[in-house]
Amino acid sequence: MADARCPPRRFGLAVIGLLLALPALAATKQARPFHDDDADAPYKVWNSTPAITMPPLLLDVSGTSVVVEWMTDSDADGSVRYGEHGLDHTAVAAHDGLLDVGTFHRVVIAGLEPGHGYQYQVASRRVVAVKPYWPERGNTVQGETLHFTTLDATRGTARFAVITDTHEKVSRIHTMLGEIRKTPEDFVVHLGDTVNWAASEQQFKDVFLSPTAEDLGGSTPLLYVHGNHEYRGPFARQLGPYLHEQGGRYDYARDDGPLHLIAVDTGEDKPDDTNVYAGLNDLRDYRREGLARFGAALSEARTHGAPFTVVLGHQPDWGWTSGDNAKWTQLANQAHVDLFIAGHLHYFKYIKPGEQGNDFPILIVGQDQVAWVEAADTALKVRVTDSNGKLIDAFTLARKTK
Ligand SMILES: [Fe+2]
Repeated sequence: MADARCPPRRFGLAVIGLLLALPALAATKQARPFHDDDADAPYKVWNSTPAITMPPLLLDVSGTSVVVEWMTDSDADGSVRYGEHGLDHTAVAAHDGLLDVGTFHRVVIAGLEPGHGYQYQVASRRVVAVKPYWPERGNTVQGETLHFTTLDATRGTARFAVITDTHEKVSRIHTMLGEIRKTPEDFVVHLGDTVNWAASEQQFKDVFLSPTAEDLGGSTPLLYVHGNHEYRGPFARQLGPYLHEQGGRYDYARDDGPLHLIAVDTGEDKPDDTNVYAGLNDLRDYRREGLARFGAALSEARTHGAPFTVVLGHQPDWGWTSGDNAKWTQLANQAHVDLFIAGHLHYFKYIKPGEQGNDFPILIVGQDQVAWVEAADTALKVRVTDSNGKLIDAFTLARKTK
């Protein structure tokens, strides 16, 4: 272990210990990478600094909050300094009164102002040993200062881009997010199936989190929608902390200018008793709860007040619902949903209103395609392009009377 080879930089309480430590303090004073990590700490501080192995990824932005995620190569805590005009506020990763310690860091920044720009900087201080008393610490690594803007339901326009079904192909992420970063999108939506199945944290980091974080540059937030393939594999049960919205779920609503966005979790694509799941799926009750939550979200005042309500989901037919598929469509019809954007099929498809009992169009974004959505008060414009930027389809929806 690297830490075992590093001499402790500072020693504990005993006077003799302090005397012994003085040369080490002097020798390493200038070598501290960033913070003064409490030079007089009475606990052991090793000259060990974490490295950031995944740069910050902004997730689930709202008008007043955002999630910041990053990774380090060794156990550390996680904090974010942020502010409008300086890094004068701090948010930490903590649960039940204790700072989180690990290599994956997730900090929720709340209490922000809608439509405001913020600067932020992540920091992780090494935790060498979590002992009951005198835990041993190390140095702090800091990321670069980055910027983001919160959503604002009162602004006149909004724009976002959608990708889906990247299925572990990193070049696919780089190609599409590279194009998207050329334009100032409010956020990017990934409609799920980031993996073929979830194998491990390392796999999930390598094939989705890291390339996405790098391409979005810590400034364009990601809204994630749950795909059926993220239900599969030995690491599927551990994906929540990496992907959940702030409330710990996969369904949520967000508002951006004229847009009211409702993200739904369309679950698996086969019944729970399908042999391939060997009795380990329990989607039936989860999807019924999801249906109730969908209805509740659609009945909120914003659904009727916003110029456009757009549903974001992975499977265009709502997935396996134990026979409730028509109820999902019915709720969307009753709420005058303007557009449903889905993926899953891996090819482009546009389902017109009335084709499947739906009063709203269903846009299915293909693999290696980007949907570009621009909303103003009276019109919702959508373009779909392929990985070469070639136009596949474009349409404009006029604001309905609701
Ligand atoms: Fe899928």
